[in-house]
Amino acid sequence: MMNLATQLDELRSRFESALTEAGDERALEAVRVAYLGRSGEVTTVRRSIGALPPPERPAAGKTINDAVEAMEARLLAAAASLEHRAFEAELAQRIDVTFPSIPAPVGSIHPIRRIIEDVAGYFGRRGFAVVSGPEVEPDYYNFDALNIPSDHPAREGFDSFWLTDTLLLRPHTSPMQIRTMQEHRPPVAILAPGKCYRRDAVDARHLFQFHQVEGLLVAEDIHFGHLKGMLAGMCRELFGPEQQVRFRPSFFPFTEPSAEVDTTCPKCKGRSAECNMCGGSGWIELGGCGMVHPNVLREVGYDPEIYSGWAFGFGAERIALTRYEIDDVRRLVDSDPDFLEQLQ
Ligand code: PHE
Repeated sequence: MMNLATQLDELRSRFESALTEAGDERALEAVRVAYLGRSGEVTTVRRSIGALPPPERPAAGKTINDAVEAMEARLLAAAASLEHRAFEAELAQRIDVTFPSIPAPVGSIHPIRRIIEDVAGYFGRRGFAVVSGPEVEPDYYNFDALNIPSDHPAREGFDSFWLTDTLLLRPHTSPMQIRTMQEHRPPVAILAPGKCYRRDAVDARHLFQFHQVEGLLVAEDIHFGHLKGMLAGMCRELFGPEQQVRFRPSFFPFTEPSAEVDTTCPKCKGRSAECNMCGGSGWIELGGCGMVHPNVLREVGYDPEIYSGWAFGFGAERIALTRYEIDDVRRLVDSDPDFLEQLQ
């Protein structure tokens, strides 16, 4: 049988080369198990002690124990040096602190909200208060007080979603005229933006839920010229300095005279017969307006002999489609970030 010392020398030299090859913690652990583990190589050697004459056994045991101690120390050292090398590698890594980071996605204001804020900003700077009111209205505010009696055919045009016989989702923001005037003595100057509802089939130009911005100014000596000046200014702020406004006679029961308001097509400036934004007409319709009807003033307790005023109601979606050159109003409610992102 091979002398014990030689046997251990041979084992330790194999152990040393295994240590050198172990590149990480797991490999080191595998070496420990193979040599020093319960059924490892050293255990096999230890078993051979039994074959020795009893007087030689203690010395042999000590030789083996010394070898095990030395091997354990080598294992610890190898683990420490692995750790050191990993640390050095980490330190050697260069970080370019000037490298641009990946931008975090940030949300933005929805185009409709932006239109409302821009219009409110324009009127706010001219002394108008921004107010809001309920989207569910009694027919009194929506119709009767606005000079639309129950048998009037104009109710048809404002048909909406009825919740009860007398409560409906408002089809326009004009009820806010009544609510404001009943609460305040003249002069009043308000802008009332908000959601409205109509029983319209959804297509590229219609939604059943949309937004209006309502304006109302009532005081002494207010005339149509004030309305024209304010609306022209608003259009120039929204679309650019060349904007004009034009009024086409129309009918609303709560204004007299009434008109539809158009502004110069911001895309072709009225210069292209083929413009797909205005259909070649050169004008874009914004909504309705007019001088507040005397019956409406009387209903809220204002004397039409002393006070006069104007009101308008514009579609926020209509303004957004025009300003951002959007071809389909449904895009505004699709919540597609790729689309909305382009309208910063
Ligand atoms: N409320 C009207 C509509 O929705 C618009 C309008 C408002 C007209 C104010 C005149 C005055 O069509």
